[in-house]
Amino acid sequence: MAEKKLHVAIIMDGNGRWAKMRNLPRTKGHRAGIEALRQTLNAARELPIACMTFYSFSTENWQRPKEEVEELMDLLRHYLKHEFAQLIKNKIRFRMIGDKSALAPDIIDMIDEAEKKTALYQDFTLQLALNYGGRQEIVHAAQNLAQKAKDGALAPSAITVEMLASQLYTHGMPDPDLVIRTSGEERLSNFLIWQSAYSEFVFQDVLWPDYSGEHLKEALAVYAQRERRFGR
Ligand code: FPP
Repeated sequence: MAEKKLHVAIIMDGNGRWAKMRNLPRTKGHRAGIEALRQTLNAARELPIACMTFYSFSTENWQRPKEEVEELMDLLRHYLKHEFAQLIKNKIRFRMIGDKSALAPDIIDMIDEAEKKTALYQDFTLQLALNYGGRQEIVHAAQNLAQKAKDGALAPSAITVEMLASQLYTHGMPDPDLVIRTSGEERLSNFLIWQSAYSEFVFQDVLWPDYSGEHLKEALAVYAQRERRFGR
């Protein structure tokens, strides 16, 4: 039987601590974090993985100091601009999950273009969670369904799990099989809270900028030992 290809989601944590240990500004940690993201994504292509989701900017991250938010947005601009050719070359489908409306117009344009031009690639999907919050995502889905109910197009009792899932940013994507968090912290921080109901969790004590394909392989090896029962 062909090996099942996985959806792996990563909470990239520890950029700030990585920089602090080196007496560098936090922003240098984020820069190094981008390089780790690139390497991890490259490694994933050689592994039984069909989708990766990276928690890149949460709805709460706007509360960080202005300079740090600006630097993260500049890194995002840079990343989207330079990775676009790689996405096409490697036939990677790009999707953003999160509330696009609060992002800068030039960033929205780049995201729209990347999503449009890669929409038909089927082998591998890269999802970036940007201005993403799991609770906000569920509220947004509830609002859409409530509006349909108000318009008389939907009976509240007809709402199903699948119907609510179809209103999430992740609609059409499989749930993550494995959620990884780096840096030794062990919490979900509002990331894919609906979608990870039956995911396996692996916490790795490595700061994100030090993460590599080897760490991803280690996480997959731990995952392979787990027995998933989905409550059955
Ligand atoms: C956590 O480190 C990381 C983030 C806030 C977001 C992750 C961002 C990147 C990897 C770079 C940006 C990527 C894109 C695509 C824009 P932290 O600052 O919370 O670290 P700390 O807990 O050690 O302070």
